[in-house]
Formats: sequence, structure tokens, C-alpha cells
Amino acid sequence: MIERGTAIVLIGFMGMGKSSVGQLLAERTGWRKFDTDELVAAKFALPIAEIFARFGEDRFRDAETSALRELPREGDSIVVTGGGTILRAKNVQLLREIGTIVCLNADEERLFERLASRRNRPLLQTSDPRATMKELLRSRETIYKKAADIMIDTSDLTHEEVADEVIKELKTLSVQR
Ligand code: S3P
Repeated sequence: MIERGTAIVLIGFMGMGKSSVGQLLAERTGWRKFDTDELVAAKFALPIAEIFARFGEDRFRDAETSALRELPREGDSIVVTGGGTILRAKNVQLLREIGTIVCLNADEERLFERLASRRNRPLLQTSDPRATMKELLRSRETIYKKAADIMIDTSDLTHEEVADEVIKELKTLSVQR
């Protein structure tokens, strides 16, 4: 068994509200927040879409893994990941070491509505973003489920309610452990 840290780690597909819920959790707990997209963007001093365009996805993924390795192992924190962070098994292992992994989920219809209003996701800049989203979701579904300690369906919840749910589920889990 690996040693697990005390961080709350948020994973899940793009548009699940990981960043907003992470911010709320940081405010409620007073814990520090780390966001892998922000850390990578800061390293390149470029927005994510620009990193993908100039250097490609592999370089982005390498930087994502480096950012995870550099996260502090000690102390309480909230860690927000990018939607594809869990694609590398090594990353999932690193996240497990850091803390409890909470996956935010939502039904496909709701997710597409949320994503359609934003055009900042490089992986969805295709001729048929909905089909691309479906395919990506399908290919990642099992990986999210396997990585998660807790799954939360956010479809009918506000960000505030999701944060409540995260805290409630974590308490239940710590009683069980
Ligand atoms: C990605 C999700 C994005 C960002 C990058 C790749 C993915 O993060 O890391 O565009 O592969 O799903 P969000 O989940 O915050 O949109």
C-alpha cells in the first residue's frame, strides 16, 4: 500500500468545474491551491492553447508530469488537475501519493452545454467538437473511474453544492478508513 497524503485532488473531464470547485474548496478549508494547468502555463509563460499549438500535446503532458512531481508532499492542499492529467499512469500514482482523488462527473448533454460556450480547449477545436468530446469521454471514462477514490455527479449541482458534496464524501471516507 502506498502512503497517501492529505490533499484533495480534483480530476475529471474538461468543463466539470474543477477550477471553480477547487477555488471554493481552498476558500472553505484555508488550504493552498495548486492548479496544474496554471503551473504549466506559468512555466511556458503561455496560455495552454498556445503551448499545444507551438510545442504539441506531448510537451504539454511532460510539463504536466513535472508540475505534479514538484507539488509539495507535506501539508494540506487542494490540487486541481487538467482533464487529461490521468492519461499517464505515472501521474495517477503521483496524485495518489499526494491525497484523495475526487472525480467530478456530469452527463454528456450538460457537459456539452458547458463546453460549447468556451473556445479555449485546444483538443476540442475540431470540425465536430461534440463528436470529439464524445470520443474523448468514451476513451477516458474507465481511466477516471479507476483513478478516483470518490466520484461526484455534478450534473444538477451548483459549484457551491459540489464543494459541499466533496467535503461530505471526504468525511465519510475518512470515517471508513
Ligand atoms: C485537457 C484539459 C485541459 C487542459 C488541456 C488538456 C484534456 O484542462 O489541461 O487543454 O486533455 O482534457 P481542463 O480540464 O481544465 O479544461
